Amino acid sequence: MTRKKLVSIIGLGYVGLPLCFHISNYYKTIGFDTDKKKIEKLVLGKDITNNFSIDDLKKKKIYFTNKSNYMKGSDIFIICVPTPINKKNKPDLRNLISACKIVAKNLKKKSTVIIESTVYPGCTENICIPILESLSGMKCNLDFFCGFSPERINPGDKFKTLTKIEKVVSGSNVYSKNLIYKFYKKFIKAKIHKATNIKVAEAAKIIENTQRDINIALINEFFKICDALNIDIYDVIKMANTKWNFMPFYPGLVGGHCISVDPYYLTYSAKKFKINAKMVLSGRYTNDNFHKYICKKIDQNLKIRNIKNKNLSILLVGFSFKENTNDVRNTGVFKIYQYYKSKGNKVDIFDPIADKTHAKNIYGINLMQKLSDKLYNLVIICVKHDKFIEKSIKKKLLSISKNAVVYDFKKLLN
Ligand SMILES: NC(=O)c1ccc[n+]([C@@H]2O[C@H](COP(=O)([O-])OP(=O)(O)OC[C@H]3O[C@@H](n4cnc5c(N)ncnc54)[C@H](O)[C@@H]3O)[C@@H](O)[C@H]2O)c1
Repeated sequence: MTRKKLVSIIGLGYVGLPLCFHISNYYKTIGFDTDKKKIEKLVLGKDITNNFSIDDLKKKKIYFTNKSNYMKGSDIFIICVPTPINKKNKPDLRNLISACKIVAKNLKKKSTVIIESTVYPGCTENICIPILESLSGMKCNLDFFCGFSPERINPGDKFKTLTKIEKVVSGSNVYSKNLIYKFYKKFIKAKIHKATNIKVAEAAKIIENTQRDINIALINEFFKICDALNIDIYDVIKMANTKWNFMPFYPGLVGGHCISVDPYYLTYSAKKFKINAKMVLSGRYTNDNFHKYICKKIDQNLKIRNIKNKNLSILLVGFSFKENTNDVRNTGVFKIYQYYKSKGNKVDIFDPIADKTHAKNIYGINLMQKLSDKLYNLVIICVKHDKFIEKSIKKKLLSISKNAVVYDFKKLLN
């Protein structure tokens, strides 16, 4: 009988944990994370990304640890650590570099290292592989193999879950590409596509998210134009969408870990070749500043009604970076919160889905999980979670905003 392969997943967040979950059906699985508290929670079956129930997690045979030496002897390592940007909007590769160092120390002959973290084209070959080689003393394609396979998971999407999402794989040579393909084939039920090489797979991931950012930026700009023309953008999109090749996007705050970050990985690549990726940067600028437009419109509205932007009781509805996820990283709602707080208002935020611990730790905000009977002067619908469409919540929102100015560009209440 052949031995079950040992797979180690490095970084157990929105990407790494679902991977662990599905991989463990077929392979011996180790989930490694440097965050000790997270490991302690996972051992108890608690998933902070809200994807899995305690029962689901406990049923799985996953060995969760923060001790890297337990990964020694793994046949496959999958790196899923965060790849954010720094204050200058440049790639911050510290987590990735540290993960590669950890893997290098535990690498054995014939192991394969797969990067799932989003990176710029060339990063796996120019940053990751050299670290793996120098710290392990082994040579890529001779002693071990490497590949890049971007993750496309969409947190909050109950239908397009990991095993149903088509996947792209690439490898440091043909052998590793085929090996990685076979590995994913075990648990990915959707089609798997072999990219020509690693750089192609890296670039594919970056353009997927950049395209989305630009499409939303275009709609956010169009939203302003529609406002000026006094037409309803949702009506316009509904009509435009009757054309076979129109792609519907809707106005919104763009935050999170991917769409608001990945385009900067592309502009960083472009800059290295003295290419000014103006359009990408312009999309980023539009989306990064969209909250200002919302605040300006609300302020105009207040002014017309002779309401001073001070000492108001304000309710923001929704805090996650987008609908139906608990993820609050880079949420644009915080910018709206900061603005109204800075004017001397009392601002509450209602979000029963968003991660309240992160909201407290990252932003110092206590999220309201339930609405009270308190009446507000201004209610701003920021994120439209499906849960908000529930009759009881809608009814409550309508009742507490009966005397309020309501800004509802997400069309929740009307
Ligand atoms: N969240 C998404 O929807 C999504 C979708 C597609 C791709 N991605 C990409 O996947 C990667 C991971 O994103 P995420 O959202 O899962 O991040 P996350 O923050 O949810 O989880 C990452 C985990 O990695 C851990 N970590 C950090 N450095 C580590 C190290 N050196 N060794 C071990 N663990 C380490 C952190 O403690 C954290 O638990 C990023 O590159 C992201 O751009 C994310």
